[in-house]
Amino acid sequence: MPRRHATPAPDDEGGTVRPRKAVIPAAGLGTRFLPATKAQPKEMLPLVDKPAIQYVVEEAVRAGLDDILMVTGRGKRALEDHFDHAVELERQLAATGKEDLLAAVQAVTNLALVHYVRQGKPLGLGHAIGCARHHVGDEPFAVLLGDDLIGEDERLLQRMVDVCAETGRSVIAVMEFGDEDLSRYGVVAAEPDPDHPDVYRVTDLVEKPGKANAPSNLCIIGRYVLTPDIFDHIEQTKPGRGGEIQLTDAMRAQARDEPIRAIKFTGTRYDVGQKGDYLKATVQVAAKRHDLGPEFIEFLRSFVAGLG
Ligand code: UTP
Repeated sequence: MPRRHATPAPDDEGGTVRPRKAVIPAAGLGTRFLPATKAQPKEMLPLVDKPAIQYVVEEAVRAGLDDILMVTGRGKRALEDHFDHAVELERQLAATGKEDLLAAVQAVTNLALVHYVRQGKPLGLGHAIGCARHHVGDEPFAVLLGDDLIGEDERLLQRMVDVCAETGRSVIAVMEFGDEDLSRYGVVAAEPDPDHPDVYRVTDLVEKPGKANAPSNLCIIGRYVLTPDIFDHIEQTKPGRGGEIQLTDAMRAQARDEPIRAIKFTGTRYDVGQKGDYLKATVQVAAKRHDLGPEFIEFLRSFVAGLG
């Protein structure tokens, strides 16, 4: 029987261990984006000239998490290739003097230390996180869903890491959504934390409850900082909604021991595994780019005007 840890182990100074590893589950089938995802991972769909997964890894690195474990599966080799050296391409770019492109290609490889583990079968997000146990060990760690994009100026993950280090509890990110979304997300029962204005204490979590059974309108989005006792809870979690091992169910058991924490996020976030959000994210990223933005915004203005 593995040892259980309700809180992360203390560091040498007696404080709480700060998360330094990130897990990015990317083994899902991406059915909402078929046929584009028939032969390529949805995480490789580009937003302008970078695949979605690169934005997610960059966010982890900004939060000080540069040890990354990707959980992949069949048909996901492009993810590994993207973060690896491309020797022939780099040689060609160097030989033809394309220094800017060479730097962009090499920057991806140097971004972080990226490891991989395969999830043999897509048995659910909880199961995918369980596959990270060996790599993560006995430390708190972050989870970033590979198809959730958070605006580059936001500091959500940093704040979550801080709150985990301070409280020793798992931290999730929630957003207030409309009733129609309550059957698409995990939803929490929570009350404000008297010690922190932006933090909630979460006492229960339900996966996709629908309006009739939802305890609130606070929906779980794709950022988590988890204490390592989650692995034992995942092992004990039976298949739930959709026959999948749900991370929400494992966290529910964790919250039953003692409330976990949630940060209510009000900034920019896109679910790029969904077509509408993918289009919005692409437009926003393009409009913010110094090289493309001015001309693109001009185009958008005349395009919208032409719609009448
Ligand atoms: P989604 O619910 O978005 O599922 O998973 P999906 O299969 O990727 O996409 P659709 O719904 O079929 O279009 C949320 C996250 O969990 C990962 C996915 O890769 C995604 O980042 N996941 C899900 C796994 O890694 N393994 C699983 O078994 C399930």
